[in-house]
Amino acid sequence: MLTGLDDTVRLANGVEMPRLGLGTYKSAEGGDVEGAVTAALELGYRSIDTASLYGNEEGIGRAIAAAGVPRGEIFLTSKVWNDEQGYEHTLAAFTRSLERLGTDYLDLYLVHWPRAETPETWRALERLYAEGAVRAIGVCNHLEHHLEEILGYADIAPMVDQYELHPWLQQPSLRSYCQAHDIVVEAWAPLMKGRVAEEPALVAVAGNHGKSPAQVALRWLLQHGVVTIPKSVHRERIAENGAVFDFTLTPEDMTAIDAADRGHRFGPEPDRGGER
Ligand SMILES: NC(=O)c1ccc[n+]([C@@H]2O[C@H](COP(=O)([O-])OP(=O)(O)OC[C@H]3O[C@@H](n4cnc5c(N)ncnc54)[C@H](OP(=O)(O)O)[C@@H]3O)[C@@H](O)[C@H]2O)c1
Repeated sequence: MLTGLDDTVRLANGVEMPRLGLGTYKSAEGGDVEGAVTAALELGYRSIDTASLYGNEEGIGRAIAAAGVPRGEIFLTSKVWNDEQGYEHTLAAFTRSLERLGTDYLDLYLVHWPRAETPETWRALERLYAEGAVRAIGVCNHLEHHLEEILGYADIAPMVDQYELHPWLQQPSLRSYCQAHDIVVEAWAPLMKGRVAEEPALVAVAGNHGKSPAQVALRWLLQHGVVTIPKSVHRERIAENGAVFDFTLTPEDMTAIDAADRGHRFGPEPDRGGER
């Protein structure tokens, strides 16, 4: 078991969320995803991120059921996809996600992309939260102006914003905005989609600490107060990505990585609602 994977941040409503979990985008149902979740839980991961889009919720549910880790010890996140948005559609999508995952609640349910229907979608999430079907609710891919809008009409403010964040796309003002509004920032693509070794600052800092560029990229996020969910389907990499609680980056290391920002997006522009 790795140490530190039970480290948590406290969401605005007091729920504790692990600071590092397993991402599963492109981890395929019927093989890869089951193996990845099984390995992660064995290694001590207690947070799993999925989405109805990923088509792997059933496999994740099977792996969790087989792992023997009590459901209450696992922080399970899923997301409502674009074509499921709207009040009734979202409620139905949530039920389908629960069925596929083989659980009767989620720890976190997220709006996958900002869309025209998001105000109705958000009302559905507020209802699910009020009914106790989900322990926390939040959004993904919301820029400051999307958050301003949602904070304008929400009865319950988003507790998390999960968006693309790594050394090449830092968006410091969005991070400050979230932190000022008690919205936990969760980074996707924390490993720059596997391209961490192409960033000289990560390679240099890694060399100084006897760690890998991937581990340094994750540590940099954690030290900025950001939650993250690196994805891998390989046990040795899942172990590597989880072994980031036994070293600390210096202020100089942090500054060197802060300077690597180049506004490079791997994913779609949030203003396009997830469409490329
Ligand atoms: N809300 C959203 O819109 C959104 C969008 C995208 C992603 N996400 C979530 O965020 C998670 C993470 O993002 P991501 O999967 O896009 O990208 P990522 O975690 O930055 O990168 C994953 C890639 O890095 C490779 N990798 C894993 N560990 C590595 C290591 N130690 N060294 C080098 N390469 C390594 C993986 O390959 P192997 O698997 O072959 O090891 C995979 O190709 C997703 O899985 C998903 O759960 C959310």
